[in-house]
Amino acid sequence: MDESEARRYAGMLGRMAELEAAISAFYRACAGRCQDPGFWTGLSADEDRHAAYLREMAGIVLERQGKGFSPGRPFTADAVAKFIGYVGERTREVADGRMDGKMIASLANAIEKRLFADRYDEVLKTVDERYTALMAAIMSDTATHVEATARKMLSA
Ligand SMILES: [Fe+2]
Repeated sequence: MDESEARRYAGMLGRMAELEAAISAFYRACAGRCQDPGFWTGLSADEDRHAAYLREMAGIVLERQGKGFSPGRPFTADAVAKFIGYVGERTREVADGRMDGKMIASLANAIEKRLFADRYDEVLKTVDERYTALMAAIMSDTATHVEATARKMLSA
């Protein structure tokens, strides 16, 4: 891809980092409202790490000026912005005490499933090793979060 497309994709990765940061804030709110705060702060720390990874990935795409990267599945910044807005609204509901533990666990599971279904890893095609490793770590953690929140739904 050319340099201007690389800038556009780097911007997209930056928006994805904002989404991860929004989900981290959601989990911090959950930690403040659930009996097992350690579970939720652990998830929050993972999402903070994902946000840092995505910012690093944006930097890689810019640094390479798009060389070695090609567009994958169409993905719009608008969809990411809507998801960020949704997570922000749910965060306020949790923080305000409008949800019980079971509702919180089921909401967390729905968010993780939707994040996994968004398939970040298909947005850009590349064989860049660092980019690929960071992406694989995010996808693997997200799959783990889907399972962990599903278990939490049963025990909450
Ligand atoms: Fe997650």
